[in-house]
Amino acid sequence: MTFTDLPKVELHLHHEGAAPPGFIRQLAHEKRVDLSGIFRPDGSYDFRDFAHFLSVYETACTVLQGPEDFRRLTLAILEESAAHGVVYSETFLSPDFCGGGDLAAWRDYLAAIQDASAEAEAKHGITLRGVVTCVRHFGPELAKKAALCAAETAGDWIVGFGMGGNETVGQQGDYAWSFDCAREAGLRLTTHAGEFGGPESVRDAVRVLGVERVGHGVRSMEDADLIRELADCGTVLEVCPGSNVVLGLFPDFASHPIAKLRDAGLRVTVSTDDPPFFHTTMSREYEMLNRAFGWDATDFAQLNDTALAAAFCDDTTRARVQKRLESKEHE
Ligand code: ADE
Ligand code: ZN
Repeated sequence: MTFTDLPKVELHLHHEGAAPPGFIRQLAHEKRVDLSGIFRPDGSYDFRDFAHFLSVYETACTVLQGPEDFRRLTLAILEESAAHGVVYSETFLSPDFCGGGDLAAWRDYLAAIQDASAEAEAKHGITLRGVVTCVRHFGPELAKKAALCAAETAGDWIVGFGMGGNETVGQQGDYAWSFDCAREAGLRLTTHAGEFGGPESVRDAVRVLGVERVGHGVRSMEDADLIRELADCGTVLEVCPGSNVVLGLFPDFASHPIAKLRDAGLRVTVSTDDPPFFHTTMSREYEMLNRAFGWDATDFAQLNDTALAAAFCDDTTRARVQKRLESKEHE
């Protein structure tokens, strides 16, 4: 079986985090910015731990300075994702990195990204939708600006709102205003929880913020009551095994709890998070899951079904992607 050819649905991808290091180096060269400190001699991103990863990520973002940079980035990301069989992807976009939370600037960035998304769909047959994310360690006030940008641009392309960033800062509930604002605008909700926060952060995500999907959520495994609650609610976990291994949550794929979470009745999906940072692709995630747990085309088709059912797009888009999935699953 070649894992590259299998069709895939990805729900958890950070737009800036998907920027290949060569792409960021090229922008740095064009803008005469010295970013040498964030790369290893082999050209990959250099970071020691989660906090340092976030800092390197933000430094890389300093050369993403306008809508045109994001248009180019979007084309690069979608070409790479499509080459790994991805037919539908949801990307996390932060107004903080796209105009600093200013609504007029955000609209310009978004127009460029959507333009690139349409171009890539025509060229590569991959559909992209956006989930606006606030950044937790930037604090609740900037999160409100992100939520207002999300609410003003909610529609058939911006389909959700979420939160990434450093989970050890503050509480999920500190961001309730932003999640309420996004919900009232008709957006669907997800937040990072149970990655560097414990099971209580997942419980808060579901009970306090009212999210239907959780980014990562893998530390739910530590709490049997929570597992039952998530199974009863049908909460979907956006699991990113390769990311978790590189950031040191688990020593290797074989020790990762994704198979146990699935066996416990949870709705699990698989994504890459920030693929070039974690030396991964959707094909590699599938390959490693096959090696660690023996998952095969049937398991991957089931993952895709779960992911597509949990995708925040409208039902017309979902049906179109479903057809594409089915035709590629039977190729
Ligand atoms: N932003 C980008 N990647 C992230 C991750 N893995 N966790 C939290 N915030 C992020
Ligand atoms: Zn993430």
